[in-house]
Amino acid sequence: MGVRIHIDAVGNFRFVYSAADADSPRLFIGSHLDTVPNAGAYDGTLGVLLAVALLQALHGRHFPYAIEVIGFSEEEGVRFSVPFIGSRALIGRVDDTLLNTKDALGISVREAIEHFGLNPRGIAQARISSDACGYLEFHIEQGPVLENLNLPLAVVEAIAGQSRMEFTFTGRANHAGTTPMNLRHDAMAAAAEWITAVERIAKETPGLVATVGSVQTMPGAVNVIAGEARLSLDVRHPDDKVRAKAVEQIIHLGQEIARLRGLSIRWSEQMSQPAVAMDPFLSSQFEQAIGKAGCRPHRMVSGAGHDAMIMAEQVPSAMIFLRTPGGISHDPAESVLVDDVAKAIEAGLYLLDQLALTPIFQKRTCRA
Ligand code: GLV
Ligand code: MN
Ligand code: MN
Repeated sequence: MGVRIHIDAVGNFRFVYSAADADSPRLFIGSHLDTVPNAGAYDGTLGVLLAVALLQALHGRHFPYAIEVIGFSEEEGVRFSVPFIGSRALIGRVDDTLLNTKDALGISVREAIEHFGLNPRGIAQARISSDACGYLEFHIEQGPVLENLNLPLAVVEAIAGQSRMEFTFTGRANHAGTTPMNLRHDAMAAAAEWITAVERIAKETPGLVATVGSVQTMPGAVNVIAGEARLSLDVRHPDDKVRAKAVEQIIHLGQEIARLRGLSIRWSEQMSQPAVAMDPFLSSQFEQAIGKAGCRPHRMVSGAGHDAMIMAEQVPSAMIFLRTPGGISHDPAESVLVDDVAKAIEAGLYLLDQLALTPIFQKRTCRA
């Protein structure tokens, strides 16, 4: 396609497909290239490949706007517990606190970037400029909704907000054979009680999902009562007030469990990302394009986080979901249907043509 690929200072893969004329606005299309442990092949990567496939399908045609394809470097937040590092760089939200955040081995984000051969001092240059007029993201749904409706594509109206936290119960490590049950301060037992309380709160709150996905205990030996248990927490809801209330309840229950068992508890918040509405204009354009591709455009809220929720802070952003067979994601069984991918490309091409004919869209520039 005659494009020049570069990797920006935070590790995002980028290239620009030029506009028909100079001084035109720039539309971003992309998703993320990182994964979770034991991941599937499509979460994120499909959206980047779809952007490339769209441009290939243009056969050299250019629009009154440039298209920048972007493969974000770190969306999942597995390593540092802070997601969206790649997209944050585009809107100027990678600060020293984030760069100094460390992984489980004590390596900071800044060091990880340097080890990869990039210079974190160049991160400011990764920012979008005022010519950015929109961001589009294609992504697998990662849930069962479209499959149940027997539909290939959906327009995402909004992305649920999420909190990520770390909790630590501290008790007393002691001998598993000699310490009577009533004289223990078992951090593992407290953690287990708290995990089921988290599950109960989520089940009792409509629309809430809450997950303790990781537990580490110290010293972690078969014949030693755990002195410390460190747990992750992920809480999501489309309404930020409901999420905040659930987080309060979860903290309170942890304090109660710790008090009754004679343990201490501490917690820290790694992220509180508000729910984000997608751009109504771009979403309705996506809806029309899906209709032209012969599909019924369902509208839905995304429970998964996406780079679009970060980009939306500064540019009009919209997303299309593709049906996910079995609703399975974050697992090697994740898949997509070839026909659905073809429909997504077809809808994407209609959308690019619609936007080319909409001068008002090209005048909508970045709010940075
Ligand atoms: C990303 O996949 C997330 O929603 O955690
Ligand atoms: Mn994911
Ligand atoms: Mn994803």
